[in-house]
Amino acid sequence: MHKIGIIGAGSMGAGIAQVAATAGHEVLVFDSNQAALERAQANLLSSLNKLAEKGKLDDATAKAIFGRTYFVDDLAAFDATGLVIEAIIEDLTIKKSVFKQLESIVSADCILATNTSSLSVAAIASACERPERVLGIHFFNPATLMQLVEIIPAVQTSPDVAKQAKLLIESWGKLVVMAKDTPGFIVNRVARPFYGEALRILEEGIADIATIDWAMTALGGFRMGPFTLMDFIGNDVNYTVTETVFQSFFYDPRYKPSFTQKRLSEAGWLGRKTGRGYYDYAEGATNPVAQQDKELGEVIFARILVMLINEAADALYLRIASRDDIDLAMTKGVNYPKGLLRWADEIGIENCVHMLDALYTEYLEDRYRCSPLLRKMARAKKSFYGE
Ligand SMILES: NC(=O)c1ccc[n+]([C@@H]2O[C@H](COP(=O)([O-])OP(=O)(O)OC[C@H]3O[C@@H](n4cnc5c(N)ncnc54)[C@H](O)[C@@H]3O)[C@@H](O)[C@H]2O)c1
Repeated sequence: MHKIGIIGAGSMGAGIAQVAATAGHEVLVFDSNQAALERAQANLLSSLNKLAEKGKLDDATAKAIFGRTYFVDDLAAFDATGLVIEAIIEDLTIKKSVFKQLESIVSADCILATNTSSLSVAAIASACERPERVLGIHFFNPATLMQLVEIIPAVQTSPDVAKQAKLLIESWGKLVVMAKDTPGFIVNRVARPFYGEALRILEEGIADIATIDWAMTALGGFRMGPFTLMDFIGNDVNYTVTETVFQSFFYDPRYKPSFTQKRLSEAGWLGRKTGRGYYDYAEGATNPVAQQDKELGEVIFARILVMLINEAADALYLRIASRDDIDLAMTKGVNYPKGLLRWADEIGIENCVHMLDALYTEYLEDRYRCSPLLRKMARAKKSFYGE
């Protein structure tokens, strides 16, 4: 069993440490902030105690997991690790300097991974003498509960390192999908229209937040509507992901952020965590009520869904990931009720193309351009699953 090193004891690092220790590894956790380390240690203890109380772990196992997780204040303790996962602040310069320092401590065959959500893995790997051992291992929040992990080999990564990492993370009980080192990988790229198109529908005055949320949950079967979900994630966090993806795609209009969300973020209306976002979470607050108009709801749901399908199809077209991995990523990473490519088959590829072309004709915006893959498939009367 490898010793695992985790750098960063924030929400992601702490969660990943718990997953690795639960899988039986000795885990070392380092953070440059002593208070963060202490908080992570206290949280681990309380999380394990809760699992033991609920009967999900026996007391001895909980104690053993806690006992093999070491919170250290010196990176030098990582010298015997077989895999290090970095989960520090999302800043390329800082991440690069940490990787450089790390390489002077660990052995030559130690695998170095970053949990970055939006930075280029190739750029991080470029800080290392041996970039072929560097890759992205992207967990979802909370890492202890979310089954999906995206593995992202950089252009420099050796295929053997990617294979070893995949096997190891699978042995931790996770579902692994492989993604190309491109902005947002799979989930954070394909999910953009769930927020962006909902915001566009709101900005155009087609429906209010409650009606759009109702359409996506009651008619679409999504667990949370886009506005409830943005309030849950935090408008600052969600806006930054959109803006980063937009910039990283050389300002492709498809990913253009929304002023509505930017203003909410600037106002400090971040969502649940500040008590106010699209909705007001104060006790007794009045919030908009969905206008449960089925016809309008179907229009909203179909428009957002077809934009999601277009994004998924384009990710396949551009070989970001395989068909199965794209569908798995969206059902397991963000709990979509169905894989988007399977959903496209159900609707009919030709219908998807018609819906997208109708939007494009209406707005004449590049944002609504249909993926060449959908168009080709419609012409050839093909479906994604060939059923
Ligand atoms: N929060 C999410 O939903 C989420 C999901 C997937 C991936 N990520 C990615 O995971 C990483 C961490 O995110 P988070 O939400 O856990 O952040 P966080 O702010 O909760 O924690 C980051 C931790 O890193 C520590 N840190 C900062 N600079 C450091 C350094 N130079 N050396 C050591 N420790 C340092 C901080 O003290 C802090 O405890 C980011 O790259 C983020 O993009 C976040």
